[in-house]
Amino acid sequence: MKLRNTIILPSLWVLGAVGVLACGGVRPSATADEGSLKQAIGDRFLIGTALNVRQSSGRDTAALRVVKRHFNAIVAENCMKSAEIHPEEGRYHFDDADALVNLGEANGLTVTGHCLIWHSQLPRWFAVDKEGKPVSAEVLKARMKEHISTVVGRYKGRIKGWDVVNEAIVEDGSYRKTPFYDILGEEFIPLAFQYAHEADPDAELYYNDYGMDNPGRRDGVVRLVKQLKERGLRIDAVGMQGHLGMDYPDIHAFETSMMAFAATGVKVMITEWDMSALPTLTRSANISDISDTAAFRQALNPYPVALPDSVSQRWNARMKEFFNLFVKHSDVVTRVTAWGVTDGDSWKNNFPMPGRHDYALLFDRAYQPKPFVKEIITH
Ligand code: XIL
Repeated sequence: MKLRNTIILPSLWVLGAVGVLACGGVRPSATADEGSLKQAIGDRFLIGTALNVRQSSGRDTAALRVVKRHFNAIVAENCMKSAEIHPEEGRYHFDDADALVNLGEANGLTVTGHCLIWHSQLPRWFAVDKEGKPVSAEVLKARMKEHISTVVGRYKGRIKGWDVVNEAIVEDGSYRKTPFYDILGEEFIPLAFQYAHEADPDAELYYNDYGMDNPGRRDGVVRLVKQLKERGLRIDAVGMQGHLGMDYPDIHAFETSMMAFAATGVKVMITEWDMSALPTLTRSANISDISDTAAFRQALNPYPVALPDSVSQRWNARMKEFFNLFVKHSDVVTRVTAWGVTDGDSWKNNFPMPGRHDYALLFDRAYQPKPFVKEIITH
């Protein structure tokens, strides 16, 4: 791997910090100045963004200006996950989620709930007893039901739809081995959908997952949706997270999955759109080993100041290609949501390796639209 762009000049740091070098400069054209992303997209689909707590609480005013101007939908990046909203049995923390829903209502933004049942960011207590042993099926069902009814019930009529189950199918199409699966088997998914529907019969219900271009997972998700439908359970859409990289996924495989999900009769949502501009790391890479060497660390974090023009151009072209795909299928795509407002907010700066400087989102660190976003706005 080449090590260019790793020498940091102090003066460039200053420029980089305000994003002047990032992605084509800070002077949007006059028309880009006037228009907005949501206007340009019109009624093709909702265009959303995830908000962190600094944003949903109103503290990050610069980001909120971008949100109000360019987006018409929001979702909580973290504060509605079970570990955050239900940290201990019998104790809920609603303040942050309440603020997000209020912000959405006050500004006419459609609010999505993320997420009800997920093995990750699950509070320690949820699936174990006081001795730390797995609870019985009956206890876990009761806890799921109480959690779902309380959270969905609190925002009844105010949240348009919920990611009911997140990331439950693995790449061979089988079920991920999680505490929910271990204790309840496949049944935990229909139960979660049933409880959510009982708590708010008008809310849309979604199944959400990543790596959806993968044929095995695609087939597994199609099977799951069909099973839920056959049992008469409500499912409105499949959420394709859409965490992309420069070399994955293959756009045709992604499109095939969009079509396969739509063919079951549900809508498709791109729920967590971003594209890392950095070298791809797999979760299985032994990051602690390779990050021992400074040279390797620099190779994995090659653009600490700004994205070189050549990379920026490829990144923008690839984002535009995906955007065009979503537009092409806007008869089935009902929402496209970016997983954060600006590059500085993106989880990709710390995943799958902490401390990188990524350029994954639609707005740069100076709150300016990326070139492909300007193009959408002005065309
Ligand atoms: C991520 C958040 O962005 C991070 O802030 C948090 O530390 C971990 O979770 N799939 C999902 C999202 O469904 O909830 C995850 O969000 C990203 C992967």
